[in-house]
Amino acid sequence: MDDALAGLMQLGRERVEQVLERWLPDAGTSPPRLHEAMRYAALAGGKRVRPILVYGTGLALGLPATGLDGPACAVELIHAYSLVHDDLPAMDDDDLRRGRPTCHRAYDEATALLVGDSLQTLAFYVLAHDDTIPCDATARLRMVETLALASGSRGMAGGQAIDLAGVGQRLDLAQLENMHIHKTGALIRASVRLGVLCADGIDDAVADGLDHYAKCIGLAFQIRDDILDIEGETATLGKPRGSDAAQEKPTYPALLGLAESKRLAAELCADALASLDRLDERAAPLRQLATYIVARSY
Ligand code: IPE
Ligand code: IPE
Ligand code: MG
Ligand code: MG
Ligand code: MG
Repeated sequence: MDDALAGLMQLGRERVEQVLERWLPDAGTSPPRLHEAMRYAALAGGKRVRPILVYGTGLALGLPATGLDGPACAVELIHAYSLVHDDLPAMDDDDLRRGRPTCHRAYDEATALLVGDSLQTLAFYVLAHDDTIPCDATARLRMVETLALASGSRGMAGGQAIDLAGVGQRLDLAQLENMHIHKTGALIRASVRLGVLCADGIDDAVADGLDHYAKCIGLAFQIRDDILDIEGETATLGKPRGSDAAQEKPTYPALLGLAESKRLAAELCADALASLDRLDERAAPLRQLATYIVARSY
């Protein structure tokens, strides 16, 4: 991995883990079982790609990392909640996540539902409350709006509904793309947008370029996830390989085959890179992140 990306990843992971640790109520706070389960779901493992994108975007625009902690934490809280619910028996019914039993396995289904509810609302509390976010009230409201839209029925949750309705169905390419753009792309796009919102007076063309980058890598991220469900190893993935096929999920490899899915992901990566042409060397880690997303092994 290139040095610039390795540096961004280490910075992003370390910072977001400290910030999550700070915002999550400690396990002794009443009700202790719920708070312990929230910490279980949010604190252990995970690549932290969405917070890394918030930091990568902000740093590319010349912002200090400190002001990016709140949005980075908020988007990871939403993501962690989405995984807890995604693994429930009513959805993907998976037992392993981030190398450990899924939240409903380690606790119980009702607790996992409440963990999702609580992580989600904590995300918005952080955006509303964190006084280190370097923006005025209007930009802060935009952040709340961005994250809410990306998480809800017209974003991630909507994509999950399309995913569930697609079980056992043969979706065409446009339908598959629509599902992936919503269930995974929306939060990735929001991550970059949150980084942009922390900066003042960003040129429209630069913001548009970053948005296009985010759309491309968001779709590529889920295509790679589909590929890894076939080609990855459970031990490396930290989640069960073969889960999609077992549940007859519509995926890119199921529709197009592995080779064509990889070609499409590589094309999206190239498109993402081209859209950052207005940014200078400070965007080097973001560029490398696009390449990492389509080549990652977990
Ligand atoms: C998994 O996301 C779910 C998808 C949206 C594909 P990640 O691959 O980012 O999972 P973690 O956070 O690293 O565990
Ligand atoms: C997950 O898609 C999307 C969200 C969690 C919103 P998947 O169901 O493919 O994710 P994994 O493979 O379980 O991580
Ligand atoms: Mg799923
Ligand atoms: Mg799943
Ligand atoms: Mg998957």
